[in-house]
Amino acid sequence: MSITEKYRKDYTPYPFDIKSIHLDFDFQEEHCDVKSSIEFRRKADAEKSAPLIMNGEELELLSISLDTVILTPSAYRTSDDELVINDVPDKFTLKIENRIYPAKNTTLNGLYQSNHKYCTQCEAEGFRRITYFPDRPDVLTKYSVTIEAESKDYPYLLSNGELTSIETLDNGRHKASWQDPHPKPSYLFALVAGDFDLLEDDYTTRSGRDVALQIFVDKGKLDQCHFAMESLKKSMRWDEQKYGLEYDLNRYMIVAVGDFNMGAMENKGLNIFNTAYVLANDKTATDTDFYGVEAVIGHEYFHNWTGNRVTCQDWFQLSLKEGLTVFREQQFSGDMNSESIQRIDDVKTLRTFQFPEDAGPMAHPIRPDSYIEMNNFYTHTVYIKGAEVIRMIETILGKRTFNQGVRHYLKKHDGQAVTCEDFVVAMEEVSGKDLTNFRHWYSQSGTPVVEVNSIFHEEDATFTLEFEQSCPSTPGQPHKLPFYIPIRLALINADGSEHELVIDSEHTNATFDLNSKKTEVTVFLDSPHQRMRFNTIGETPTPSLLRGFSAPIKLAYDYTPQQRLALISSDSDPYVKWQANQELVKEVVDTLLQCESYSSIDEGLLSDLLASRRAIIADDSIDPAFKALQIELPSLLEISETYAPIPIQKLSELWPHFKKQVAVALLPELSALVEQCEVKLANSALEQSEAAQWRRLLVSSMMLAGASGNQTFFDKANTLYSTHQSMTIKHGMMTLIHHCYTNQSEEIIEHFYTTWQDEDLVIDKWFATQSTLATDDIFERMQALTSHADFNLNNPNKVRSVLLRFAMANPSKFHDESGRGYDLVTRYVVKLNKINPQVAARLCGAFNGWRKLECESRKQMIKKSLEFILAHENTSPDVYEIANKALAD
Ligand code: BES
Ligand code: ZN
Repeated sequence: MSITEKYRKDYTPYPFDIKSIHLDFDFQEEHCDVKSSIEFRRKADAEKSAPLIMNGEELELLSISLDTVILTPSAYRTSDDELVINDVPDKFTLKIENRIYPAKNTTLNGLYQSNHKYCTQCEAEGFRRITYFPDRPDVLTKYSVTIEAESKDYPYLLSNGELTSIETLDNGRHKASWQDPHPKPSYLFALVAGDFDLLEDDYTTRSGRDVALQIFVDKGKLDQCHFAMESLKKSMRWDEQKYGLEYDLNRYMIVAVGDFNMGAMENKGLNIFNTAYVLANDKTATDTDFYGVEAVIGHEYFHNWTGNRVTCQDWFQLSLKEGLTVFREQQFSGDMNSESIQRIDDVKTLRTFQFPEDAGPMAHPIRPDSYIEMNNFYTHTVYIKGAEVIRMIETILGKRTFNQGVRHYLKKHDGQAVTCEDFVVAMEEVSGKDLTNFRHWYSQSGTPVVEVNSIFHEEDATFTLEFEQSCPSTPGQPHKLPFYIPIRLALINADGSEHELVIDSEHTNATFDLNSKKTEVTVFLDSPHQRMRFNTIGETPTPSLLRGFSAPIKLAYDYTPQQRLALISSDSDPYVKWQANQELVKEVVDTLLQCESYSSIDEGLLSDLLASRRAIIADDSIDPAFKALQIELPSLLEISETYAPIPIQKLSELWPHFKKQVAVALLPELSALVEQCEVKLANSALEQSEAAQWRRLLVSSMMLAGASGNQTFFDKANTLYSTHQSMTIKHGMMTLIHHCYTNQSEEIIEHFYTTWQDEDLVIDKWFATQSTLATDDIFERMQALTSHADFNLNNPNKVRSVLLRFAMANPSKFHDESGRGYDLVTRYVVKLNKINPQVAARLCGAFNGWRKLECESRKQMIKKSLEFILAHENTSPDVYEIANKALAD
């Protein structure tokens, strides 16, 4: 396959409209024959001489005819990725027959096999691996599909839309016909053939449509799909209530497959899911897994409007559907569970994964300007920074107007393929606001930095905040225009109350929005230097800044430790409380980095940190889940990503000492806390959601206590493991014992495996627990894991739990000074490149942060690894793009 870069500026519409497509699939033992019949019509404004060009990859062309005339090879041209017919009339029907080999398809793109079932994955450009077609999101048409296969092994034959007939043939085969009334782009096409267990339910929409809900899973897994079904019904109800959006077909199908490159796919009426986001019951899934299932079911369902009914003009606009749908999914999860915990978890993910992306070689705007392989652009930036950009629009417009804006956008563009610009325009129309400056969020990459300074003037009782924004240069963007940044803030008095704000507009050069109680203001920054002055301030207040994380930026303000402690204990904004606590930890780590010996922590700072944690633990008014968040120490990955350059050696060394010191000091409090959690959990009347909160607190406090190495907690962890049935606790305790008491963990690792060896997804957790161990013998352990009978390079979930976890979540060993971590990952990038380029490219992405490392020899080793990967023959465009960008200056 040739490697070419595509540019957003080169967009041109497709010269033909397609009235309809009929597809016919005939499944044989080794191959599948595909017949398509497509009705073309040249667009009125298209060039008369424009040839017909269609995409197609890895297809065996059998025949091609135009309006019943069979074309001879001289009438058309094929290459490894296209079919071109030069002379076509303005209106014609094209019939194509081609053969594909799904069982040999290890890329999991297009039509492939997973556990004896056939399924498809067409986004972004997989449809062209099924048949020739203009495989681009702005070509919408109506699909009808027939599928023929053997009845015994493939009793279910599924596609998008409604089932119109099912016919038994006399040779042990059968044939199903499907019709999708809604025009759609090819990336939303889906087909499934196989044998499943089926969970059925139904849902009546607000306007009275009866929808059959069906979840298809591997045989024997029915008892693991009830939660997914409930989540689906909640999603349908939520979208009606929140946005007035209803489902538009009589059937909604979800099929779970074990081999899947991503989490799930929103194909019209026939979602295909990774089993990891469908299967869950108390015995097999942790509470985190349950949240994941609910979120992903919601996400794919919400796409039915934001993505399917209104889709993208081209793939550069991906954030139009993904950013908006992630935002909707976050709103939904917050509404179903806890809004504040949801917000903080989302911020954590953004900081840990998107900020580094935005500071590395793959940095790109949420609407990229170019790509080589589209699959490489399903990124944290497009998804979660994209969602933050939507959230800022909500902050700027206000919740009500924003909601009206979404409705307006969907109504205006229903049935169309549109752009991010169209979305912003719809938001302007509904609000009357000018979002010109705001648009820079779509075109500029990099994380803006806002430095805040304050000046208190006792004489005239004023308090001035000065804001200075900047943004580091990123690939192709050395200089940036100022961003439009909403910053929600309040001023906190010495007694913890919020000051009533009196804004001195004469000394304020930014627009702002004051809340009705006058206790909180949102200031809208739009130039490099701005200030805001407050009157009637009698004593220095503590500013509570960036409440709710109102913009995806790095904000710096020079708090004293006392101010941080005050925010932690009494601010009303959960994000600010949490952030102040994070900064306190970071400050201790900063001083540790300066020390010669890790045992000599700055006593003052450490005692502040301990005192604050003791206060948090003792405060019974704090929700258990929030308490868990406040006592958990950040992971080494989280903390290291806040440094530039990253002193990985020193951080890796000091991290266990630091954790141990904190743990030892807090042991009495943690013991009591563990006991409190146990008492709560023993109460069988506890509601599910509350029990989950107490479990999170139990596991977090045990984890921290375990870092002390104290034998009592080893025993405690074992007892909890054997007495609790919940996977949250079993998994938590196994991980704790393996990571904190490694030498005594063989038994539990063995026990967990034998108990769950038939549950693939649980075994993935077992693998992940082991690949994130930071001991010196990890390389021997990785060797054992990758040669384990249950490991399989063709299965992305296995690659994720063993290799990606090692590369992304075991920083101290991935960056082992011997270079063995890099060698391991390099070897597997090369192996995977041949099997599944998409997954290989993800793994290769582990090297993206190399320039930020402090250590020169590690940098050189990674550089060599990347060069080795590029020098390999048959490097896929996917891997080429990542490795090449990582090496570019
Ligand atoms: N449309 C994507 C799935 C997808 C992405 C398929 C890239 C093929 C290539 C889907 O809606 C999605 O975004 N899924 C996420 C999960 C979601 C909850 C963020 C995924 O699969 O990770
Ligand atoms: Zn999505």
